[in-house]
Parts: sequence; structure tokens; C-alpha cells
Amino acid sequence: MADQSMSEPNRRDFLLLATGAAGAVAAGGAVWPLISQMMPDASTIAAGAPVEVDLAPIGEGKAITLKWRGKPIFVRHRTKAEIESSRKEDSLITIDPEADSKRVKSFEGKAQDQWIVVYGSCTHLGCVPTSFAGDFGGWYCPCHGSHYDNAGRIRRGPAPKNLFIPDYAFLSGSKIRIG
Ligand code: FES
Repeated sequence: MADQSMSEPNRRDFLLLATGAAGAVAAGGAVWPLISQMMPDASTIAAGAPVEVDLAPIGEGKAITLKWRGKPIFVRHRTKAEIESSRKEDSLITIDPEADSKRVKSFEGKAQDQWIVVYGSCTHLGCVPTSFAGDFGGWYCPCHGSHYDNAGRIRRGPAPKNLFIPDYAFLSGSKIRIG
């Protein structure tokens, strides 16, 4: 019989790479090796199976990084102030214009404005941006200096596109399925 304690680090656990607002910058590089240790089992990865993400542990103003189909994905719980500031700046998005409201999904008809889910891959040349960094409070790609806002929209730098949004859906108010 499988040892429950050994099988316990499962899909849910690998998601919980907490990168809190304050610790994200320092953690950006350091936690990455942990990701591979906390991945779902190999067959799940190979199949690229959808994964469910429990959002409950991600407090307001926090974010996690997970890895899915070999790519990092950021799941960020925005504060009300972050949402408001992002929306106020909709008209200032010039590189890849997109309204903040188009970057969130709904559950049962209600927009889940507080949740931003994006691939953690810079749209310039694919480096992994640092969370809670850069001049717009979102992500900063140190490779060539791309600044993204808290909705993952490119605001300055060589990246040509906003951070891409993976295929995902809300299963409840506190759970999403990616893929
Ligand atoms: S890869 Fe991010 S700015 Fe070049």
C-alpha cells in the first residue's frame, strides 16, 4: 500500500509556492528549484493534464508561481487598490492595448477581478519575470527590462505583448482549473 505521507505532496502542494508581495523579489530565483520538486507526478506532466488550483490559501496581495506543461504560471490575488489603479490606467496601455476587465474571468456571471492568471514568460524572449517588481507594480523582466502592470500588461520595455493568459476557468469562487 502506498505510504500516504509520501503520496501527499500532490497537485495542490506544488502550486503553493508562495511568493508574497514582500518576499517575491528575493524568492524569484531561489524558489524555482523547488518547483520541480513539487510538481505533479510525471505521467500527469507528460499528459499535460489540467490542474486544479485552490485559491483559498492565496491571500489578498499575494501570488503563487506554479509550473504547468513546463511553463511557469503566475496566479495573483489583487487588492482592491491594485484593481482600481490598473483600471484607471486602461487608456495608457499603448504597446498592447487591452482593458483590465478583459484580463479576468467570471464565475456564475460575476467578474473575478481580483484574480490574474498569466504565463510567467516574458513575451520578449521568454525570461521569467519577477513578481511585484518593476515600475508598474506588476512584474519586471530583468533580461532586457520589460515592465508589466498588475494585470500583466506590458507597459515599458522591449516585450511586444501582454503576458499571455492560459486556458483556465473558475470551478467555484475559490478554485480554478488550468487546461
Ligand atoms: S526576455 Fe524579457 S525583456 Fe527580454
